[in-house]
Amino acid sequence: MRPVNRDSLPHLTAVAADLVRGQGSTAIARALAVWWGISLGQRCRFFGVPQLRRHPSSAIRIGADCEFRSAPWANQVGLDRRCMISTLADGASIEVGAGSGFSGTVLAAAGSIKIGAGALCGANCTITDTDWHPIGYEARRSSVRGKVSPVVIEDGVWLCLSVTVLKGVTIGAGTVVAAGSIVTQSLPAGVLAGGVPARVIRELR
Ligand SMILES: CC(C)(COP(=O)(O)OP(=O)(O)OC[C@H]1O[C@@H](n2cnc3c(N)ncnc32)[C@H](O)[C@@H]1OP(=O)(O)O)[C@@H](O)C(=O)NCCC(=O)NCCS
Repeated sequence: MRPVNRDSLPHLTAVAADLVRGQGSTAIARALAVWWGISLGQRCRFFGVPQLRRHPSSAIRIGADCEFRSAPWANQVGLDRRCMISTLADGASIEVGAGSGFSGTVLAAAGSIKIGAGALCGANCTITDTDWHPIGYEARRSSVRGKVSPVVIEDGVWLCLSVTVLKGVTIGAGTVVAAGSIVTQSLPAGVLAGGVPARVIRELR
């Protein structure tokens, strides 16, 4: 246990404040989840209040022991925004496995986003299974939705800072995607990948 003295006091005070604020935001987030009909596993913790939005006739299920960081004080790496978890259409689903962690992460599904257990999404990652708008000008003007294709992020994947995962991508178990990457195509399990678009850099032992 760290001794309380002039050197450690600011740090220990901030940690204590985070714990108190975390309890408040967890209570609010749990109430929001009930309001939106979102299934939330036991012991999920929220630091800052996320934005939750479930479309009618769609499902959002979050496993136990997940952590969501949604306030500037909740992560020293620098959050640009809250966690935002939304389904956008009838029949859409978002599933998150147990023990996963998110900081200022957007999960937005018009079809299906599935995240395994123990996944880690660094600050300001975006995961979406839709282009939101069509490419063609006329279709875009008539507000037809863009292409939709399922996203799967398997167990133990780590998305570093500000990674974007686009429609139709599967990221294999244990793969690490380097900061600032944009993942447009599927990545195998157990590799370090990175870049725009993300490519395999090397295998991880
Ligand atoms: C993923 C990461 C941890 C890998 O670190 P590492 O194992 O030390 O990898 P290296 O720095 O040796 O880089 C290996 C190769 O990947 C490339 N690379 C590293 N990061 C990259 C990136 N963000 N985009 C593209 N290529 C990248 C390097 O240029 C290097 O290429 P080379 O072999 O041709 O020289 C690191 O790149 C990273 O993203 N760190 C930030 C982690 C983070 O976001 N943490 C906070 C949020 S939880």
